[in-house]
Amino acid sequence: MKNFEYIQRVETLSNGFFAENFRKPTMFIQTFGCQMNERESEKLNSLLLAMGYLESPSEESADLVLYNTCCVREKAETKIFGKLGSLKSQKRTQPNKIVALCGCMPQRPEVIEEINAHYKHIDIIFGTFNKNSFPKLLYQRLTTGKRAVEILTEHEEESELLENDTTRFLPHKAGITIMHGCNNFCAYCIVPYVRGREKSRKIADILAEITALANDGVKEVMLLGQNVNSYEYGFAELIQQVNEIENIQRIRFMTSHPKDLSDDLIATIKNCEKVCKHLHLPVQSGSSRILQAMNRGYTQEHYLELTNKLKSAIPNITLTTDIIVGFPGETEEDFLQTLETVRLANFAGAFTFLYSKRSGTPAADLTEIIPKSTAKERFDRLVELVNSLQLKHNQNYIGKNVAVMADSATSGRTDGNVLVHFDIDKLETSQVKPGDILSVKIIGCQTFYLKGTVE
Ligand code: 5AD
Ligand code: SF4
Repeated sequence: MKNFEYIQRVETLSNGFFAENFRKPTMFIQTFGCQMNERESEKLNSLLLAMGYLESPSEESADLVLYNTCCVREKAETKIFGKLGSLKSQKRTQPNKIVALCGCMPQRPEVIEEINAHYKHIDIIFGTFNKNSFPKLLYQRLTTGKRAVEILTEHEEESELLENDTTRFLPHKAGITIMHGCNNFCAYCIVPYVRGREKSRKIADILAEITALANDGVKEVMLLGQNVNSYEYGFAELIQQVNEIENIQRIRFMTSHPKDLSDDLIATIKNCEKVCKHLHLPVQSGSSRILQAMNRGYTQEHYLELTNKLKSAIPNITLTTDIIVGFPGETEEDFLQTLETVRLANFAGAFTFLYSKRSGTPAADLTEIIPKSTAKERFDRLVELVNSLQLKHNQNYIGKNVAVMADSATSGRTDGNVLVHFDIDKLETSQVKPGDILSVKIIGCQTFYLKGTVE
């Protein structure tokens, strides 16, 4: 049976539910992890709407709870297992409640073992490669009462099942997956194992999706991939074409790998007026020795050359990064190199992470484990430096006028993705809609945001 037939069958079951209970069945989706998961949750939400479900305001009251999960660090997994544990008691009082788990976590065999041993109350499990199977699995669970599981190790042929892809968690901004998977195998990273090899979507499909979003009121798009710079059909070319789509005002993308960042792309960021002058360029470490152990494919010198090149080509560019502290074998000397790199690159912001061992990755076999207290102490020093740089960057905006895309009636983002809280003198708050671009005069700041007045 085809997926859409399963959608219709579940819808019929939902109609039966309605006849019995005088209400539609309800669902609650919670998303963990990256923007790619956020986007996929929008699609899963659309599928559930098509199958006759309504969104529930709370997890407790929902007839179906779906967790779209992340496994990039142990902390995320622990949190999700905690939530699954508490659903156990809810299932005792609501035996018909359906608990579904999908995304990156179930792709790890260790997670499946743990679920089989201790989380027998989970009804539906599927991974990252087959989210389109959800209607089939839900139908199986509803009709047999048995757990429905489907975990694949590579992608199903991409079927654009989601014609009724109507869900927008935000009205004015959307993420668009341009490629799945990752071929880089950084030593610490689980992603290539849970999301498979790189697979690029066709330019025409991506442009059609963005055009439909633009017609639906979306003003800002974020092109998503684990390493957008290795997009098979030419990333610079893709951006140039997205730049031509009417009504799209801002283009962002994530994530760029420093080893593949081309001059062509730098020129494209510079020349396409809709492309935000912001680059998130994960450095991970500033020590060439650790970068090599991480299998990152560049040195500290190469990374800094790249940031210098970017800054001279695009003087107003905002650079942000990801950094891991406490990778096995990291010495104080290595860590000082990281601090030095952060200073020299002068990042406007950084996501900082404590190294988390992921079984199955090459780094999991390394034996020079950094004691937790040492890693934490380095982490705190790094955060202090990153915050002080961020504050200085923010102070430079004071007195200037910046274009802010509103996310709400009182806050929004600059082109460089800096958060701005604004007051409104001339305009009524109610006149501001998400997606409006406002001219804001910056009058103050904190480490994590700017404060201003709409001019
Ligand atoms: N431990 C800590 N941080 C990690 N990241 C990826 N894998 C790990 C890990 N095992 C971080 C990297 C990446 C970001 C998405 O998560 O910095 O860029
Ligand atoms: Fe988490 Fe990586 Fe999966 Fe995104 S792709 S949800 S960051 S494990």
